[in-house]
Amino acid sequence: MTEIKKIGILTSGGDCAGLNAVVMSVVNSASKLGWEVYGIHNGTDGLTEVPLSYELLTTRNFSDTPWPRLAGSYLGSLNKGVKLESQAEISKRFGEGVRALGLDAVVVVGGDGSMNIVSNYCKNAGVKMVGIPKTIDNDTPLTQYSVGFNSACQVCVEAIDALWKTARSHQRALILEVMGRDAGHLAMHSAIAGFADVCLVPEIPYTIDGIINKLKEVKESGRKHAVIVVSEGVHTENGEMVSNTKNLIGEKINGGIGEYLSSAINSKYSGFQTRVTKLGHVQRAGDPTAFDRALACAFGAKAVELLKEGKTDVMVALSGDEIKTYPLEEVVAEGTTMLNKDSVYVKAGVGMGMYVGEVK
Ligand code: F6P
Repeated sequence: MTEIKKIGILTSGGDCAGLNAVVMSVVNSASKLGWEVYGIHNGTDGLTEVPLSYELLTTRNFSDTPWPRLAGSYLGSLNKGVKLESQAEISKRFGEGVRALGLDAVVVVGGDGSMNIVSNYCKNAGVKMVGIPKTIDNDTPLTQYSVGFNSACQVCVEAIDALWKTARSHQRALILEVMGRDAGHLAMHSAIAGFADVCLVPEIPYTIDGIINKLKEVKESGRKHAVIVVSEGVHTENGEMVSNTKNLIGEKINGGIGEYLSSAINSKYSGFQTRVTKLGHVQRAGDPTAFDRALACAFGAKAVELLKEGKTDVMVALSGDEIKTYPLEEVVAEGTTMLNKDSVYVKAGVGMGMYVGEVK
């Protein structure tokens, strides 16, 4: 087993709250072992660009600075869809960067896409990797929760609470479009915690009539306002994607479903005025919650422990009170974790009387 002396750490994919706490935790644990930790800037870019972009991290970077308490990534991150070069070329340069810095291993803080892409780079470069799951979408496989999800839920719930107040003042049905990519975890958790009336997620079909029936039920109960939460990945009633916007690599970008719902509801039912709020990137930028800070620290410490024991090419994962590890190949093979229709959260929504689509 090669003795580890120098590791790299990078954050990859869309940012979220808790990333800086992960980096702090890795730096603190690794420093105790006398290892050097190099923070790689802007995801894998810091290792593939000329000149390389990185910095030596010490406990001083975090001990008396606000960074671990802040969202965003101190190191910078890189989301897919923003690179035009071929993967083979980037992979080659990644290997050269790792060798130039003399890294014995790399800790990658990323979601399902990053686990896939960066684990390939590491394999090609012959460098050991430990993955730490993060994403507001909570769709990284095999882990109950990813860092950042809880904090994003908190932002969404605060938005629902705010909308509830103005919905009540103006007797409106307010629609909140939240992120989550193609998975409905963020929408469903937030809708439940915000006591919304309707929650639509990509995994469950719905009808406009189903939404209207719920709104009528609200009216009949004597309440004159309602809140609807919709995940950005939801398609039209007929299954078409609303947005035509594409990213730099030609993939369609989600969004616009809130506006679609608003006009679809109004074209059939005039019982409520509707308005739409698209929450956007603020969901990634709320302060890390206590849960995310603790999870970040636990994952970071575990990653260093695994490297010390020579257990690499794995991702750490939360399972109840335990941190488990899964081979990166298994993580990649699992793909993306969608919201299960039979999950306790969908059942909770149904139990609360929320319209969550056609679940039966
Ligand atoms: O994966 C995290 C996420 O915030 C998704 O919920 C969202 O669809 C996407 O990233 C937005 O990406 P970008 O910041 O590139 O617009």
